[in-house]
Amino acid sequence: MSDRYIDFANSSLGHRLVAALGLPSPVRLERWQAGRLRPVEGALLLGGGALAGKVQAFAHKLTDAIYTYGDETSTWIPGHGPKLKAVVFDASELQHTDQLKQLREFFQPLLKNLDNSAHLVILGRAPESLDDPFAASAQRALDGFGRSLAKELRNGGVLQLLYVGDGAEDQLEGALRFFLSPKSAYISGQVIRLQACATQVEDWTRPLAGRKALVTGAARGIGAAIAETLARDGADVILLDVPQAKGDLDALAARLGARSVALDICAADAAQQLIDHLPDGLDILVHNAGITRDKTLANMTPEYWDAVLAVNLNAPQVLTQALIDSGTLHDNARVVLLASISGIAGNRGQTNYAASKAGLIGLAQAWAPLLKDRGISINAVAPGFIETQMTAHIPFALREAGRRMSSLGQGGLPQDVAEAVAWLGQPGSGAVNGQTLRVCGQSLLGA
Ligand SMILES: NC(=O)c1ccc[n+]([C@@H]2O[C@H](COP(=O)([O-])OP(=O)(O)OC[C@H]3O[C@@H](n4cnc5c(N)ncnc54)[C@H](O)[C@@H]3O)[C@@H](O)[C@H]2O)c1
Repeated sequence: MSDRYIDFANSSLGHRLVAALGLPSPVRLERWQAGRLRPVEGALLLGGGALAGKVQAFAHKLTDAIYTYGDETSTWIPGHGPKLKAVVFDASELQHTDQLKQLREFFQPLLKNLDNSAHLVILGRAPESLDDPFAASAQRALDGFGRSLAKELRNGGVLQLLYVGDGAEDQLEGALRFFLSPKSAYISGQVIRLQACATQVEDWTRPLAGRKALVTGAARGIGAAIAETLARDGADVILLDVPQAKGDLDALAARLGARSVALDICAADAAQQLIDHLPDGLDILVHNAGITRDKTLANMTPEYWDAVLAVNLNAPQVLTQALIDSGTLHDNARVVLLASISGIAGNRGQTNYAASKAGLIGLAQAWAPLLKDRGISINAVAPGFIETQMTAHIPFALREAGRRMSSLGQGGLPQDVAEAVAWLGQPGSGAVNGQTLRVCGQSLLGA
């Protein structure tokens, strides 16, 4: 469903009216277009500690316009340099409260010089990895600073904080290729921890080449976008959906040159059927199939409760366990669970849905340490309001609230969620494990 308010707010009359009335003025976000090669099309400003030097070593692969504040050859001067499309500040060496002013000194001059849809990243060290309480406190301060600054950005700007663990420095390129590019257009105010990871992307034009991927609920909406994006990135994709959706599923599979499996993931023999369909094993498992049956708990029927828990939580648990036990899931596999911000913040009328989605977040956290020895990562992606058939059924007033109550003031697109899943599916993204990545435009819910 299209968002007519964005069209209106970006028309010349609408723009003036929206400003005069003090209404939200969401901009059209820049998104990744097929055929694009460079993650950053425009100026990248680097600054801060030694990790910025590590970024400098591969920055020419991100963009050909690299700047620092003080360097003689490529100095960026506020008000004189080009508008900035991307910014990376290494704050990992800040160890005392008085050093935190470096954040203000670095970011304040550039804020009025950001291009549309600018991507900002702060690098730090995870507080829990530091022995010195004051250093841990300074690093934790980055969290509050980053989430707040993300809320102050205009014109589609987004900001994330990456805590870089020991040995994870060589995974910075993959993370920045994602977080500095339009692939993360609808992600903001997120805090992600990177750990060392033994596997790397070989070819950035096809980061998923040679990887076998299964996407459940792939006939439409977010699942279809995930299947398309994984295929774009070189994966050999298998699409799964209920037998009733076989027409749409087969049409998409034919377009992508993919295989399809018509199967209800709650069927008694679903696990065995799935194993039989995957004789060559699996490298990327995306549990996207999901349903809503909304009612307040006072009016919740057992059928509504059971259906949501069965599809959204029990099936991913049972199927993943079976794929592990049967050896179908390869070493270094990537598992992505589609959760929801409802599972983080809770949502009136969604006790069943929020329980199932919170359960998935818990599943990722609990399984991550158990699967780590095999190089397998498992993460949750928590979409906010995404424009799909699921959200098109929400009553108008609630739909408008869902769209506007975020820093970006609009709903996301299925592509936004798909890009996050594709990134987590990469060989190098084993650096992220047991975490939840929100794709919600920094929604106010559960923030
Ligand atoms: N749209 C949003 O705003 C939003 C927000 C947060 C989370 N999510 C989650 O993202 C996922 C996809 O959402 P969507 O909006 O694309 O939903 P959708 O309803 O458009 O698509 C879901 C797909 O899952 C399939 N499916 C349902 N039950 C199944 C079963 N038992 N076996 C196999 N396939 C089954 C459906 O046939 C459908 O094709 C869901 O898990 C949803 O909870 C969506």
